[in-house]
Amino acid sequence: MLSRTEYIRQSLESHLFFGRIMMEHSFFLQTGFTPRDEKQSKMADELRIGFGNLLEDCIALANGVISRDAIASGEFITKYTLEAEKMTEFYTGIPLMTKLTQAEKCLVAGNDFHPRLEMKVSALNRRALTLLDRIIVFKSNILNDVLCCKMFTLNYPLLIEHILREAKLYRHLIQRLQSRDNINIRREAASQEAFWNQIMGEHALFIRGLLDPCEEELFNIADRFGDEFEELVCESRNAMDRTMPGDLEDLTDESLAATRRIREFKAQATEGLLECKIRSIILPLLADHTLREANHFIRLLKIFDKR
Ligand SMILES: [Fe+2]
Ligand SMILES: [Fe+2]
Repeated sequence: MLSRTEYIRQSLESHLFFGRIMMEHSFFLQTGFTPRDEKQSKMADELRIGFGNLLEDCIALANGVISRDAIASGEFITKYTLEAEKMTEFYTGIPLMTKLTQAEKCLVAGNDFHPRLEMKVSALNRRALTLLDRIIVFKSNILNDVLCCKMFTLNYPLLIEHILREAKLYRHLIQRLQSRDNINIRREAASQEAFWNQIMGEHALFIRGLLDPCEEELFNIADRFGDEFEELVCESRNAMDRTMPGDLEDLTDESLAATRRIREFKAQATEGLLECKIRSIILPLLADHTLREANHFIRLLKIFDKR
């Protein structure tokens, strides 16, 4: 059974990371529709605001409660997030909730678990689950329509599938927290590594596919990351079936090294986009989004390493 303080901290840290991720997925979907799909665009906007409001309330509860490691990891915001949001706002004309980024800059760690916090966190979790049910249905419907050629969108089908998997993982984690399930980090490590290694590999493929065809040097690097993470996914899946502890430790080290390198690549790409030095159809906020997901995976890998 999960302790009260761990329940509170893990819930809030999950929303700070995944709540923003969902808000941005809604935005990426919103920017990809054609004028025909006005209804879907409106729905994406509603979900974006819904997750934004959830994040806002989470920030207020999380101050003085979350861990130093989580804040320092760069999975909530990075040094590029605000600038990436402003530039993305400028490109799309869609106003983003930059006040949340400003508020997150001021978040502090601590152990200020006041008495009513557990009840408030439980309500926040239930609200997140309702929003997640809606976004999961929404993404599934879009994916189905795209796959049977009923809809055209500028988002790749693999990207829609990818963001659907991320939503399902978030839902799964919150549901487990709600049942006060104490996660067995050892048993969990291999499956989490398989999940996030696949995510990292797909990010490399998206970056590859959204770069201008003349950016040969960059897409060769992205291709190599794609291959490297594909191998790591196979190894992680094999490790899920094995019981030898040594195997998993080596794999965690390999995943950590590869993810640190792809994080550097994503940071440089974000910087290059912000400085207008890369030819692409990548929104700066998408680059920063993938950078935060790498930071999140690195934090998980460091926890697995210590187990
Ligand atoms: Fe994502
Ligand atoms: Fe992702």
